[in-house]
Amino acid sequence: MSTPLENTTASAHVFPPPAEFAAAAAATEGLAAAASADRLKFWADRSQQLLHWHRPFTEVLDWSGAPFARWFADGELNVAYNCLDRHVLAGNGDRVALHWEGEPGDTRTVTYAELTRDVKRAANLLTSLGIGQGDRVAIYLPMIPEAVVAMLAVARIGAVHSVVFGGFSSESLRARIDDAQARLVITADGSWRKGKVTPLKPAVDAALAAGPTTVEKVLVVQRAWASDQKLGWQDGRDLWWHDEVAQVSDEHTAKPFPAENPLFILYTSGTTGRPKGILHTSGGYLTQAAYTHRNVFDLRPETDVYWCTADVGWITGHSYVVYGPLANGASQVLYEGTPDTPHSGRWWELIEKYKVSLLYTAPTAIRSFMKAGREIPGRFDLSSLRLLGSVGEPINPEAWLWYREVIGADRTPVVDTWWQTETGGIMVSPLPGITTTKPGAAQTPLPGIVVEVVDERGTPVADGGSGLLAIPEPWPGMLRGIWGDPARFVETYWSTFPARETGPVYFAGDGARKDPDGDIWLLGRVDDVMNVSGHRLSTAEIESSLVAHPWVAEAAVVGASDETTGQAVVAFVIIRSRHAEDAAAAGTTDSLRAHVAQQIGPIARPRELFLVNELPKTRSGKIMRRLLRDVAEGRAIGDTTTLADATVMRAISERFTAEHHA
Ligand code: WT7
Repeated sequence: MSTPLENTTASAHVFPPPAEFAAAAAATEGLAAAASADRLKFWADRSQQLLHWHRPFTEVLDWSGAPFARWFADGELNVAYNCLDRHVLAGNGDRVALHWEGEPGDTRTVTYAELTRDVKRAANLLTSLGIGQGDRVAIYLPMIPEAVVAMLAVARIGAVHSVVFGGFSSESLRARIDDAQARLVITADGSWRKGKVTPLKPAVDAALAAGPTTVEKVLVVQRAWASDQKLGWQDGRDLWWHDEVAQVSDEHTAKPFPAENPLFILYTSGTTGRPKGILHTSGGYLTQAAYTHRNVFDLRPETDVYWCTADVGWITGHSYVVYGPLANGASQVLYEGTPDTPHSGRWWELIEKYKVSLLYTAPTAIRSFMKAGREIPGRFDLSSLRLLGSVGEPINPEAWLWYREVIGADRTPVVDTWWQTETGGIMVSPLPGITTTKPGAAQTPLPGIVVEVVDERGTPVADGGSGLLAIPEPWPGMLRGIWGDPARFVETYWSTFPARETGPVYFAGDGARKDPDGDIWLLGRVDDVMNVSGHRLSTAEIESSLVAHPWVAEAAVVGASDETTGQAVVAFVIIRSRHAEDAAAAGTTDSLRAHVAQQIGPIARPRELFLVNELPKTRSGKIMRRLLRDVAEGRAIGDTTTLADATVMRAISERFTAEHHA
């Protein structure tokens, strides 16, 4: 299966934009020139051009309360109006907003006029349930049109959504409901995944059964089962979505809200056991989502069919399934299921069926398709594709080249986009009509965005050097805080580097390198955050889940490199001596792995779990994860001189080797 590309080094290949692509591209050189001439004016112009402001802003940025930023603060807009009504008013009501495809093959086509009407009804319903500006609504839904409708309805009335990924457990859901003090949960009976129904409503029931809660009502979308299906039902609390929306008007006038009105909270893992509620607001966030979606993906709303494969439970689903594409009036595919159900060509079949032209997905997916072989996509007509995007983790050059060659017919530009839940939108990416791309590199900060690679003191490194990724200037889509924890916000993101004259410097948590041309290459996290299949997981969160198990005395978790998922969770566990016998019985490691999956969600289940007698610690008691990572990745163990007890590592690695060869 060797191709000419595999025989040469990746860095030898660069790909200038195809001439026809460059000639018609949304983003031109003028963008960068305008941004460097006057950055704030650049953003003001973008915002005015891309969005409808009910009340125009006069001030662009207020950074006087740094690191708490205010963008376009005296302006007023309605986020949902920007994603819906204005497109209908402009005569585009018949344009398809969503080509929805359920995993079993059922489909729904939703136009902008229909989506607007559905959101108006849902907004009326929320109001009738007593939800108003600033109230928090938890959304625990699969990838169905109602997920989009629910998010936009919450936004439309100035309330705040907290979408919880459907793969998270009832305990994770409960923790998020409590932290945000949500008054309402919107869920579904279940969702189709891998040919089966994954129940969701039962998880909500379990979450709410765990003690007194702020939740007053649960709205349930009927997706997976027939209406006579027995679901736990609490009268007075639980309501069927379809019954309720049928009873309210489909007339609703979108009211303007201040640009800094909170739009959503999205929880993400940090370096401690407790997830952080990342807070995003309205005007700046929507400006950056729309701007990046248009320019990075070269969107032509009249003709393109766009597909972002991310779930709405992650930031990619917020910014590049819901807000960016809909603000731009795009037509997109929304798919409920997994890539390999009912067959391994499902994605390519969907691309052929809907003539997808812009595809945005994650390296982990690309690598698993590579593994399955090019014959599978080769059976489908992918000639509609004209641009491919990547997000979630560093993309290895081999996967980048395969993506371009096999999926993009050696013709489409590939954009590797670096950003985070916290940044709200894409920050570093090639612009497909301008940048000569390099496989594996995110390359350049977008016009209007300032990103640097700095050393530990916050000084920019020279081209050719490596260091940490830092953002020295505020940007419109930036997080406005951690919900309920301003001190943690300042400490986590703004205290790593000395402040500059212009204000504090944001630390992203990523290592990066600048090549001799000044292009940025991301090197992965430098903190105790893992990236598994493009999903962020905290070592501390999994460790605390493990030590909550009665058998476990101590646990250490590391992210070990994995060929497909980027990183994989590997756990080292010390069993309490009085449980040693239970633990010696077969199945212990599996039941501890299942415990983590049940407590946090299946994505957190350790790939491997090793029972050890001791953990390598420094004299001050800090676990040396670096050494455990060496073991988990099968490398020679690094420097152990700072260990309190140097014999510990020998014992661990002997056990590891024995188990691997067992
Ligand atoms: C972390 C953010 C951005 C939406 C999906 C993940 C890593 C993300 C890239 C990329 C290298 C990347 C970083 C970042 N990451 N995109 N193109 N190249 N690394 O969002 O869960 O907030 O995770 O994902 O480590 O810090 P997230």
